[in-house]
Amino acid sequence: MTQTTTLHDRTVGQIAAQLPGASGVFRRFGIDFCCHGDVPLAEAANRRNLDLGALETALSALDPAAAPDAPQDTGALIDHIQTRYHATHRRQIPELIELSRKVEAVHANHPEVPRGLSDALHRIWGELEVHMKKEELVLFPAMRRQAADRLAVPISEMRHDHDDHGAFLDQVAQLTHDYTPPQDACRSWQALYAGAAQLKADLMEHIHLENNVLFPRFETTA
Ligand SMILES: [Fe+2]
Ligand SMILES: [Fe+2]
Repeated sequence: MTQTTTLHDRTVGQIAAQLPGASGVFRRFGIDFCCHGDVPLAEAANRRNLDLGALETALSALDPAAAPDAPQDTGALIDHIQTRYHATHRRQIPELIELSRKVEAVHANHPEVPRGLSDALHRIWGELEVHMKKEELVLFPAMRRQAADRLAVPISEMRHDHDDHGAFLDQVAQLTHDYTPPQDACRSWQALYAGAAQLKADLMEHIHLENNVLFPRFETTA
């Protein structure tokens, strides 16, 4: 198919932005499509020692004419980012901090205890709150007004913050053995890792929508 022959030259960010369902395929293959979306598909596969053909086949099985993963209109997309992601992070992270503190205290002597996870969550919670406030109070209103001329600096600051958020996700993956609880994990521990995995999925999709879909609309005219 034409789609297959051109996929490997496009960046993973472009593919995730243009092909409905592609972000799910990237997540399955462990490809970072949000913070490092500027990498061509072939190179992204190569970096992770993945079979490029299998990856292209999975992407080609998606329907390019399917409903998009997020609204296309800029105002509606910003609304979606705020209601689906900002609000969800504000709800989910404090719960995870609480749960993590409990698991770390109750299982302090367990060899696989995710020591430091609650501190990491607490830190990202503070950073994300400041970051989301900047988007909500400054950047997004300017984007809604289509004031593209002075957005290059704030957008690059947001992209930098996103890289830090990506580093946080790497740290959580390491602390939780890639979100895998031990065999004898209690329900709280299992819930903590399930919640942390959900946070990872949400944060990646959130960053992807900003880095690969929303921000480029205001960078081409800068
Ligand atoms: Fe955001
Ligand atoms: Fe952001």
